[in-house]
Amino acid sequence: MTGSGTIEVHTVNGDIETVLLTEEEILRGTDRVAEEVTRVYTGTQFTVVSVLKGSCIFASDLIRRIPIPLELAFVGASSYGEGTEAGKLVVNFIPSEKEIEGRRLLLVDDILDTGQTLYRLKAELLKRGAVDVKTCVFLDKPSRRAVEFEADFTAFEIDDTFVVGYGLDFDGHYRNLPYVGALRREIYEQARPGV
Ligand code: XMP
Repeated sequence: MTGSGTIEVHTVNGDIETVLLTEEEILRGTDRVAEEVTRVYTGTQFTVVSVLKGSCIFASDLIRRIPIPLELAFVGASSYGEGTEAGKLVVNFIPSEKEIEGRRLLLVDDILDTGQTLYRLKAELLKRGAVDVKTCVFLDKPSRRAVEFEADFTAFEIDDTFVVGYGLDFDGHYRNLPYVGALRREIYEQARPGV
């Protein structure tokens, strides 16, 4: 910041090759999913479990469009190292026993890719006593599936392109973009030659 109050902005937009989903499109998709979720859960008690970090933006837009009572919990899982290829899934933390046992849970994730993350998390939550676990994803890449798994609610299907923005990251960056875009190839090649 300079003395006159001008902020020097280092924009990240130049790293984006194409915008796949604009803010307006995202919010229309989120509205649609929120209506579907509301229809299914009206009259029941349920907890939205946001998978960190990627789904935090989607989950916060989604729950504000669901006009029925719900609770909110978080689960920490990461299936990526620093690049764009899937690695081993690590569950960093799980909601407390009382947030799981006997509860109906709606697991919310940013993207359904190979399916490993939600497949494993759903099994883990059921094992720990949840009575029902449904899944809701912002993006689905059906062509990448490695395990048999479909989400109960999906905002958008996309092709096999590595995307960032609206919570999705590359090496921890770009989560704050309000849209979803494909990264310029040289950005990830620079960061990880050979990826
Ligand atoms: P799986 O393969 O377990 O993957 O279904 C889910 C997790 O993989 C990450 N992922 C991506 N992250 N852009 C990202 O920023 C992508 O295109 C992408 N594809 C998969 C993501 O963390 C998700 O939770």
